[in-house]
Amino acid sequence: MSRLDSVIRRLTAQRDCLAEAARRIAGVPGPILEVGLGNGRTYDHLRTLLPECEIFAFDRQIAAHPDCIPDARHMILGDFQDTLPAARWQIGQKAALVHADIGTGDNAVTRRLAEFVGPALVPLLAPGAVVVSDQELSIVGAEPLASPDGVAPGRYFMCRMPT
Ligand SMILES: C[S@@+](CC[C@H](N)C(=O)[O-])C[C@H]1O[C@@H](n2cnc3c(N)ncnc32)[C@H](O)[C@@H]1O
Repeated sequence: MSRLDSVIRRLTAQRDCLAEAARRIAGVPGPILEVGLGNGRTYDHLRTLLPECEIFAFDRQIAAHPDCIPDARHMILGDFQDTLPAARWQIGQKAALVHADIGTGDNAVTRRLAEFVGPALVPLLAPGAVVVSDQELSIVGAEPLASPDGVAPGRYFMCRMPT
């Protein structure tokens, strides 16, 4: 597969999983957490998909398109290892949807990050919350969700907390 095809498949999987997650959280109260703002592409997509939802974005730096930078209250800056544990008190409510897009380009670093991020998300999740991620995360209590039609298993990951 060419690198172009690979990027297209990854982005298509991301979009399809976010659409499926948006359907599944209908009626689940709470904000959205975008863990990994990056250039703001999926943040922008989420605010289009769920315009009524509050979105908090996390990243160690702001490198997003100028139109895709959250206001100061909704941009939680710093290393995930510091900001995720503190987010519960900072945000004040549990999340209905988390999108964790944390791939770094270094497989070993990403694996260690995923090992931290999965458990760190657990206290932030409302009953019925859905987590969508580019990495397989260990989230105790969550049930894995099948990928939407057209998304190959293992390309993107979804799970849901019990209600
Ligand atoms: C794959 S990019 C996110 C792309 C984004 N979802 C988009 O659509 O534009 C991953 C982001 O995670 C951030 N990141 C990686 N490791 C981090 C860490 N330990 N703490 C905070 N941010 C981190 C990087 O700075 C990068 O912006």
